[in-house]
Amino acid sequence: MIQINDLSVSLNEKTILKDINVIVRQGEFFCLIGPNGSGKTTLLKTIAQLIPFKTGKIKIAGNDQSSYNYKAMARQLSYVPQDTRMDFNFNVKDIVMMGRHAYGNFFNRREVDEDIVKKAMIATNTWKFKNQSILNLSGGQRQLVFIAKAIAQDTPLILLDEPISALDIYYQMHILKLLESLTKKNKTVVVVLHDLNLAARFSEKILLLKKGEIEAYGKCEDVLTSTTLKNTYHINTKIRNDKLIQKFDASIVSWTHLS
Ligand SMILES: Nc1ncnc2c1ncn2[C@@H]1O[C@H](COP(=O)(O)OP(=O)(O)OP(=O)(O)O)[C@@H](O)[C@H]1O
Ligand SMILES: [Mg+2]
Repeated sequence: MIQINDLSVSLNEKTILKDINVIVRQGEFFCLIGPNGSGKTTLLKTIAQLIPFKTGKIKIAGNDQSSYNYKAMARQLSYVPQDTRMDFNFNVKDIVMMGRHAYGNFFNRREVDEDIVKKAMIATNTWKFKNQSILNLSGGQRQLVFIAKAIAQDTPLILLDEPISALDIYYQMHILKLLESLTKKNKTVVVVLHDLNLAARFSEKILLLKKGEIEAYGKCEDVLTSTTLKNTYHINTKIRNDKLIQKFDASIVSWTHLS
């Protein structure tokens, strides 16, 4: 679904990402982790064609990323930004409807678009805000609206940058399970998370970035080890298997800051 070869990205003449080689398969729940400033957002934005690059190659669904025009890309991937603050007084349902822009005309709404938008809003429990201004919602509620927009866009690939950072524990699970259910329908989900326990629980593959380079990449148990976490986050951890939850692989039980 996504194939990245020898990707390097510079912003303002500073190298932000270096020698990135990654494959994300169709239907995969793929998680991107790493410390603040390690390059997660830059990588997602680069995949989404929001940041240009000179070195390397990105293929999406088998085609060179540069071969997609704006609308074709919007039918291929949706993107939930890390920062969902807005300055404009948009109606919540109109924001979710913007997800349908790739398929038609925003001002000429089709019944099928109305249906898809309603379903996405019900799935994220945002239908109750449909007539409200986005400016009147809380940070977590706003995050749910942007997730609804991405789901309404109905793309094979969904990129989400810390989509649960403002959500309470119920909605964290709700959204990750919703995304997991989309992977069962063969959609590909790439999500940035800071919660390593949740990353371990939901991901099929994890990419750990450190200072713009790949520190570890693969299955949860190979990436989330005491050694990689110590090297990357400078903390001591204990990893244990959680027998209560079938898919749960690793849990970090002790965090000790190194002096
Ligand atoms: N426009 C820019 N010009 C120069 N440097 C930038 C620019 N945007 C981001 N950076 C730098 O690139 C690095 C990676 O930033 P990025 O936003 O990708 O990190 P991140 O892993 O998403 O971090 P966080 O977990 O805090 O969201 C940071 O050091 C940041 O300061
Ligand atoms: Mg970020």
